[in-house]
Amino acid sequence: MKSNSINKLGFYLTMLSSRYGNGEYFIEMKINFKSGTKSFPATVKKDGEELVLTFSGAKQPFSWEKLSDIAKDYDAMQLVYKERGTDAIINADDRNVTLRYDDIAPIEKNTTATVGERQYLIAPPKANDLLKEIGIMGQNGKIKNDMIRKYNQIDHFVELIADYLKKLDGKIEVLDCACGKSYLSFALNYYLKDVLKKDCHVTGVDYSEIVIEASKKSAKNLGYTNMTFVKADLTTYKVERKPDVVISLHACDTATDMAIGAAINAGAKAIFAVPCCHKELLSQYSYEPFAPLLKYGIFKARQADLLTDSLRCLLLEASGYSVTAQEYISPVETPKNLLIKAFKDGNNRKKATREYFELKKMLGITPKLETLIKLEAE
Ligand SMILES: C[S@@+](CC[C@H](N)C(=O)[O-])C[C@H]1O[C@@H](n2cnc3c(N)ncnc32)[C@H](O)[C@@H]1O
Repeated sequence: MKSNSINKLGFYLTMLSSRYGNGEYFIEMKINFKSGTKSFPATVKKDGEELVLTFSGAKQPFSWEKLSDIAKDYDAMQLVYKERGTDAIINADDRNVTLRYDDIAPIEKNTTATVGERQYLIAPPKANDLLKEIGIMGQNGKIKNDMIRKYNQIDHFVELIADYLKKLDGKIEVLDCACGKSYLSFALNYYLKDVLKKDCHVTGVDYSEIVIEASKKSAKNLGYTNMTFVKADLTTYKVERKPDVVISLHACDTATDMAIGAAINAGAKAIFAVPCCHKELLSQYSYEPFAPLLKYGIFKARQADLLTDSLRCLLLEASGYSVTAQEYISPVETPKNLLIKAFKDGNNRKKATREYFELKKMLGITPKLETLIKLEAE
């Protein structure tokens, strides 16, 4: 190729090298040098922190300048730079040198993939590698029957918070408390990075070694270096990276309080929690005027659930968050279908604190969350 094209190619390669940054989202480069009708393929892959060029059957350390040097000896070249969510494609010959980006476009409702009636954000075929790795899709490319509910749950969770995520700037730090096998962490990480193209880091915490090791393995297989998984009990876990967004999906019993408590104490901007089973208040609360109603065990239990979650919301308000609670997903998917959304804005603090302490006195209870946070006195 002539010097004009080589110079322009060099310019585009410089753009790609700054896009590469620390390589967090890089997958690989595939290059085809052409001479007449013959093709000479090359690849660039990560080996630890280094990039390695494989060309003409030999491996060598990669440098961006080297590609321009090799291109000088050929008539044309095509380079496909693959990173999560985007392919950058350079076509170069003596007539023209072009760079274009093929993106996973932010998915609008009417363009999502569907399984049955549902439209998905974490959608095949682009998300196939992810869905296969986390066990939602079989190797045959079909969603596994026994994983459809899980798929619905994580995809819908992401959908319900997507509008908020779209508004966030800068690098987004996410903490998933009681992450289990991290289905939701992986889905959110994919949506933030691959679909919305936002810089992010996701930490998953769980006290089960098995699920943390499985999550680490999946992240490694997918090449997701922006995810960290920590085996820790939330009772004693100290947040290592200040989270912007804290999520928890079906964190058992008081683990939901620990997730909310960790988020409040770390000053997280937003908290999205779908609580799980509730055991704590059932044996604690009594309210004499309701005694004739609460003599029925099932009503007492349901009332305890309601109290637990509504007091969580009130404590969030008392801690400077504005709060909404909504149905998370159809009860057919899971009976644990409440989503608490909290956004730090400091509005209702005093009123909520007063209301909380009045209720606490009336019911004779000390919910777990109260013991995990510092409430400012009025
Ligand atoms: C029902 S699973 C939900 C997992 C995941 N969030 C999901 O929706 O697939 C509950 C998880 O909470 C974890 N867990 C419960 N109490 C915990 C605690 N105190 N500290 C850390 N993890 C906890 C369990 O190990 C389990 O993986």
